[in-house]
Amino acid sequence: MKNSERFWERGYSDPNVWTMGGPSVEVYEIEQQLPRNAMVVDLGCGEGRNALFLAFRGHAVTALEPSSSAVRKLRSVADEHSLNIDVIEGRIEDFVPDERYDLALAHSSLHFVTKDVWVPLINELRQRTNEGGFHNFTSIIGTSRYPVPYECRHANSFDRGDLDSLYADWQVLRSDFYAKWDSHPGIATHVHAVEKFLSRKAGPDGPLPFTKVDLSNSDALPGDLFEKIPLGIHVEDLRLLCNRPTTVNRIEMPGLNLTSPIELTRGYAVEEWFFGKHALQFTQGVLTGKYEYFTQPISLQTVPRASNRYEAGAHLGPQKTD
Ligand SMILES: C[S@@+](CC[C@H](N)C(=O)[O-])C[C@H]1O[C@@H](n2cnc3c(N)ncnc32)[C@H](O)[C@@H]1O
Repeated sequence: MKNSERFWERGYSDPNVWTMGGPSVEVYEIEQQLPRNAMVVDLGCGEGRNALFLAFRGHAVTALEPSSSAVRKLRSVADEHSLNIDVIEGRIEDFVPDERYDLALAHSSLHFVTKDVWVPLINELRQRTNEGGFHNFTSIIGTSRYPVPYECRHANSFDRGDLDSLYADWQVLRSDFYAKWDSHPGIATHVHAVEKFLSRKAGPDGPLPFTKVDLSNSDALPGDLFEKIPLGIHVEDLRLLCNRPTTVNRIEMPGLNLTSPIELTRGYAVEEWFFGKHALQFTQGVLTGKYEYFTQPISLQTVPRASNRYEAGAHLGPQKTD
């Protein structure tokens, strides 16, 4: 096992936690635009928070992950709920795509391999992406202020702007850059600079109509509160220390979702509070991430595709009636 994999294994091997929590905000944004039964590939999927979110909505997911503990966990949920997820135990270096896809995801995993590996793979996936399909990657990029943390040691193979150049002929929806403080069960609080990239291959109707909503504002957190606020604090306790800012981005994801600790819950809420270029992210009411943005913090507003509603989705189970 490589060092980078051993780092994650510490959390994954605990059967009582989901290390990474629930699905990502941008995966929720993309899902609104996917066709029914879309084809998805998730590279370095971990315990499958995004793979599960998408499969519960009826999409067909190929999920690649080298950790056998994470693979075991994901397979057990996929089997229990008869989800369409092909979980492959393996590494990006050895992955050979053999399908056409509507969405390719790599959340915090491409940076574990060198450029001579990820660039040809991305180019192959670009060819294999259907018109109107998406690519979404988050990658840790070392900066002088926020070098790659030792525990996350990886190939350090990303430079800011690499993806913008590679995708110059696609529509770039997000190219966010920020420092994020987070922690995971079994893994102490750490900070890293992250690039969140989202692009779309032009569809038959041309580019996706969308609005980028600027979430930055002139609110400020009092004193050095940003540094001091501990992850894990409940939103109600934070309200005793500072007021809710004027800009709050709240997303409620219906249906079954993974949350941490290990459970599938119906309904998953992410709330982001913006203070200037700082943000606090609460999942299910608990502070799970602190952000310092180098680019403008945004949310994407698009009109959900009418063809992709999952009201008939068997996996969503009985809807609440109250
Ligand atoms: C930060 S975790 C992210 C997991 C998942 N994408 C998520 O967002 O929850 C990074 C993942 O990359 C995986 N990984 C490390 N090296 C890899 C490689 N060479 N190929 C594929 N995945 C790798 C790790 O095992 C770990 O699950």
